[in-house]
Amino acid sequence: EKGGYEHFMAKEIMEQPKAFRETVFPRIHEGRVALDELTVTREYLEGLDKVCIIACGSSYHVGMAAKYTLERLLRKNVEVTLASEFRYCDPIVTHRTLALVISQSGETIDTLAALREARRLGARVLSIVNVVGSTIARESDDVLYTWAGPEIAVATTKAYSTQLALVYLIGLCFADLLGTIGRAEYDEIVAELLRIPAKLESILEHREDVQYFASIYFNHPSIFFIGRNIDYAVGMEGSLKLKEISYIHSEAYAAGELKHGTISLIEPGTLVVALASYGKLYEKLMSNVVEVKSRGADVLGLTTRTHAEAMAKTVDHVIAVPDTHPMLLPTLDVVPMQLFAYYVALMRGCDIDKPRNLAKSVTVE
Ligand code: F6R
Repeated sequence: EKGGYEHFMAKEIMEQPKAFRETVFPRIHEGRVALDELTVTREYLEGLDKVCIIACGSSYHVGMAAKYTLERLLRKNVEVTLASEFRYCDPIVTHRTLALVISQSGETIDTLAALREARRLGARVLSIVNVVGSTIARESDDVLYTWAGPEIAVATTKAYSTQLALVYLIGLCFADLLGTIGRAEYDEIVAELLRIPAKLESILEHREDVQYFASIYFNHPSIFFIGRNIDYAVGMEGSLKLKEISYIHSEAYAAGELKHGTISLIEPGTLVVALASYGKLYEKLMSNVVEVKSRGADVLGLTTRTHAEAMAKTVDHVIAVPDTHPMLLPTLDVVPMQLFAYYVALMRGCDIDKPRNLAKSVTVE
């Protein structure tokens, strides 16, 4: 049942090219995104004043990446709120709010309760769900399913990447309806989406490199993930993966925030995972890398092939992912982060598929 792998998590990491393909390809016809399941109209979108993303855990991290993507594509405000906070923050939600609810299981109690509250306040609910017929799917106005297949490991992997895939499709579809994207960029992103599965395969083929880096760092007591923009969103996910399955304390930081406090924790031997895939901010991120290096940190870098050679001059090790449209980078970047957490946990002898104290579906508050 584990398909020859030692753990479900390894199997599910390896299934990502297929899961991405099955989620995306049937929804692209002749170069156009077709979300036939959706009943949202152009008039509705034009009247929308904001999108409110609601989710927990890794699904919330998809929401963090989605905010950058959707605000850019739609030129609408996008808020991301933890489902467990939503009901208690007196949210500003009206009939002009689209609630975008993200959940693998479709049963997370906080997410469900937030969905109900958003509906009560007048929002329309579009959900991204993996489990067909789950409660969140049933209670939404529109549902887009991630076709990731059953996810068994407690730590999510293929659900995260397929949720992201649907965010891109939603962004393209809505931007097209709103007229906020030019034809050339639309075509370029669609073409790149179709190339993602092959790029994921190539990252997975090099998984032994990540295993090697994990063998160097698996005993570090504390790890920082730094990034800017989408790299920060992926850093949050990388940090959560590592914490939940390897029990190493880690934190994700927006790199520009380091000097507002956190940098005092950096000392010789601290591991910093520096995510520098977003080309536009590469130089900015590298100036933060220099700061942590000069305080003695070990730095494991993640960037695109374009910048790999340059980054290697400053950091200790570099993981390079294939280049793609900048918006789509998180789908590629997250895979080495998942692999790093997996191999670190493996070397520490942790119970990878069932980490202590955690449940796959959180149905209590
Ligand atoms: C992390 C993880 C959790 C879930 C969270 C939300 O690897 O799996 O953080 O992402 O519990 O679960 P869903 O997406 O089922 O609502």
